[in-house]
Amino acid sequence: MYYFVPKAADRPVYSYRLSIIHFWALIFLYIWAGPHHLLYTATPDWVQSLGVVFSFMLIAPSWGGMINGLLTLRGVWDKVREDVVLKFLVVAVTAYGMATFEGPLLSLKSVNWISHFSDWTIAHVHVGALGWNGFLTFGVLYWLIPKMFRTELYSKKLANWHFWIGTLGILFYAIPLYWAGFAQAMMWKEFTDEGMLRYPNFLETVNQILPMYAMRAIGGTMFLTGAIMMTYNLIKTVRKGNFLADEEAEAPALEKTYHKHKGEHWHRWIERKPVQMLVVSLFVILIGGLVEMIPTFLIKSNIPTISSVKPYTPLELEGRDIYVREGCYVCHSQMVRPFRDEVARYGEYSKAGEFVYDHPFQWGSKRTGPDLAREGVGNNKKSNAWHYNHMLDPAVPSPGSIMPPYPWLFDKHVDLEMLPKKIRAMQTLGVPYPEGYDLIAANEFMAQADSIVADLEKNGLPAESTNEIVALIAYLQRLGRDIYNAPKTDKTPVILTEKE
Ligand code: HEC
Repeated sequence: MYYFVPKAADRPVYSYRLSIIHFWALIFLYIWAGPHHLLYTATPDWVQSLGVVFSFMLIAPSWGGMINGLLTLRGVWDKVREDVVLKFLVVAVTAYGMATFEGPLLSLKSVNWISHFSDWTIAHVHVGALGWNGFLTFGVLYWLIPKMFRTELYSKKLANWHFWIGTLGILFYAIPLYWAGFAQAMMWKEFTDEGMLRYPNFLETVNQILPMYAMRAIGGTMFLTGAIMMTYNLIKTVRKGNFLADEEAEAPALEKTYHKHKGEHWHRWIERKPVQMLVVSLFVILIGGLVEMIPTFLIKSNIPTISSVKPYTPLELEGRDIYVREGCYVCHSQMVRPFRDEVARYGEYSKAGEFVYDHPFQWGSKRTGPDLAREGVGNNKKSNAWHYNHMLDPAVPSPGSIMPPYPWLFDKHVDLEMLPKKIRAMQTLGVPYPEGYDLIAANEFMAQADSIVADLEKNGLPAESTNEIVALIAYLQRLGRDIYNAPKTDKTPVILTEKE
């Protein structure tokens, strides 16, 4: 933005000083803001609060930057009407402003409570991805390619069409997703007068928003069509021009040091020294990272362990790897937040100590399907046969499901040669498998798999012990169980006396 908006508008950037504040404030603050993705999860509370505070502060530099970009156009707004490059850049900068206004709001716990895990977040990031990054890229390409090939753009009209179809595409993409996210979140949370979940079947909340997904697809298609039109336009432009390989210098090379007496800003000093710039930037970024990370590594109370939480069995570990490989986390979270509706829907809320052997953890960030953190326990528990049928064709046990089938899990086999290595890798990461466990892991694997296969066969479902589906079922059946195995005492809270 700071390079191309002034170039395309033929105007100096509105405020050089503001751009510097924008840069340093952004890189300093942003790194602290990460935990805003983890509000209400089992992350330590103090980390979440830091994330909130710093995310909210980000609004200042972000808007400073946006205003700096728009004010660069002061006096040349009439050009925006004619110049397609400027049109793209203006929408891009505006989208940046909208996304960076919404971001701090989403970082507030009271908003995040609704938005997180829903399509709202997806809408938010697409305003940034399609509007800010996408349109800025388009504008830059339309400006740069004709320059590089010493010619005019092949078709201004086509580029204008691209602008409109792209802008409409973004609207058609984002608005239905906002709608979907809000509808979905409200349905998840709604209770009847009797105090029961109004929509206990998660699928109802999915089917409700399918029309919005269709709209989103139309918006995405429009955006993509625009990009294809641009590609054609630019190829034609390249064909008609000839490449300027080496441009004559028009100004003397920048000097290495800055000159106070020539009236240069002191900040020029660091801009002209890439290595120093790198080192200072790195330092500025590291401060927030270190403050948030070092205590979580070093202070044990940040990750309270739970004695009944045990490492996965070898079969479950293999199942977990399949879960990761297939990308199930894209649609499923494993993090029950401490809200009435989530506890009613999924079971006891998730504790940090439940994930200490998950490398990496599978908390996820989006619930296209239901949370699976308590899949192996309580009301959500399904039989092995149910899982078998569901993975083969989700719409059979769950009519109307939009989850894809995974038929290959029924043919493919787990590679048992890898198993000892995986156990050793986990040991390296601190999972307390006993010494020598890697050598007997395959036996344990087979024993557990055989019992699941026997259970499936009782239901007339064929499987071999090394089939991937068996491992995946074992993993799903394990999820969320361990805290219920805690020894029962007088102080055992109500939650531990559930069915299981
Ligand atoms: C495109 C999104 C999507 C993907 C990818 C996906 N699922 Fe699902 N999943 C859903 C939806 C939607 C439902 C709810 C409807 C149903 O039961 O099928 C669901 C339901 C489930 C359920 C039943 C939960 C319950 O208790 O009702 C399980 C178990 C499950 N998925 C496991 C998986 C596994 C394992 C994978 C990866 C191999 C996976 N899912 C990949 C969308 C997805």
